[in-house]
Amino acid sequence: MKIFNVCGARPNFMKIAPLMRAYANHDEIQPFLVHTGQHYDERMNKWFFDELEIPTPDVNLGVGSGSHAVQTAQIMTRFEELMLVQKPEAVLVVGDVNSTVACALVATKLGTPVIHVEAGLRSFDRAMPEEINRVVTDTLSDLLFVTEQSGLENLRREGVPDERVHFVGNVMIDTLLRFKAKAAESLVLETLKLTRKGYTTVTLHRPSNVDDDVVFGRILDAFEEIQSDMPMIFPMHPRTRSNLSRGPLGGRIEAMRNLRIIEPLGYLDFLHLTSQAACVLTDSGGIQEETTILGVPCLTLRENTERPVTLTDGTNQLVGSDPEKILTAFRQVVGQKPLTQRPELWDGSAADRIVKIIHEWGVRSIRPESASVGV
Ligand code: UD1
Repeated sequence: MKIFNVCGARPNFMKIAPLMRAYANHDEIQPFLVHTGQHYDERMNKWFFDELEIPTPDVNLGVGSGSHAVQTAQIMTRFEELMLVQKPEAVLVVGDVNSTVACALVATKLGTPVIHVEAGLRSFDRAMPEEINRVVTDTLSDLLFVTEQSGLENLRREGVPDERVHFVGNVMIDTLLRFKAKAAESLVLETLKLTRKGYTTVTLHRPSNVDDDVVFGRILDAFEEIQSDMPMIFPMHPRTRSNLSRGPLGGRIEAMRNLRIIEPLGYLDFLHLTSQAACVLTDSGGIQEETTILGVPCLTLRENTERPVTLTDGTNQLVGSDPEKILTAFRQVVGQKPLTQRPELWDGSAADRIVKIIHEWGVRSIRPESASVGV
């Protein structure tokens, strides 16, 4: 059973890594790794393959950046050509980026089953490109793997038949648990001259925050105050950096002595930087989950989250972009040890569960003839 496994952007790499490892226990599955090339900078791409020990992709479609339509269309065109030559029996996609939806669409139109890992998450905010990608990908998928209870409820409400849906835990947390000890050896704190719990980690890259100077400016109002309390370490996404270089806010950031902009970090350094922070301020999806497991307070600079278990069980709080709300929450959480519980099945074995289910499902639905001979 030849399965295409698609990755394209940074948050895909931590999800695909444990799956590629788990396939090793199933000889009947031939995994084929396709990189769309959506992310291509060394720091957004190659470093993750090296650190997370992901095999070199069998193919890189080399798509790169573009508007949503251009990027999605180019992935589709190149992925279709590859599908027609390689003829996989299923296509597995992860997460909610443009590569996810583009490849799911191509596969479905060619009549090839789609497997979605991290299905069912919903922010109910259609202004968010990822929400469109999630809804469309789930509609097209034949096998849906869910990370939290909300995903089961969302898919049921949308009419996805129960037998397609499996609650398996979180592959991103598989990666975190596997690499946590190695990340603890990182020298990033020494290099940046930081002390444990004496700084905050910041990430911001969502268009709703960084493409709008008014919104970004309000966030910076809060940062001005926070950085006077403790250093803020901001590994900056290239999209945020290029917005700042073009817009009026670059000067304000430069004037904040304790807001330290650095290049994007590799996985291990970033994990260590996050795990030792007093607090994390972010608009990322995955970091809400990682801080929940690390027990580090997380302030999410968004109005909603598609990962509500991080609010109920984890360390996450939604603070939006209102400076007063951000500051109040920051002052409340810093120095406190949050009460958390590990979300159900976030135990490091999600990828093993997924691959086992794919194997059984493949035997039943893709290769029914082999089921009768006991393969
Ligand atoms: C994408 C995902 C987002 C995810 C994020 C993580 C979509 C719709 N969005 O957003 O869900 O949270 O990845 O990073 O798929 N760029 C570079 N080098 C790179 C990649 C991007 O310089 O290696 C710059 C380019 O200017 C590019 C911009 O970043 O135009 C945006 O890249 P893109 O892949 O379109 O979306 P992200 O904002 O990275």
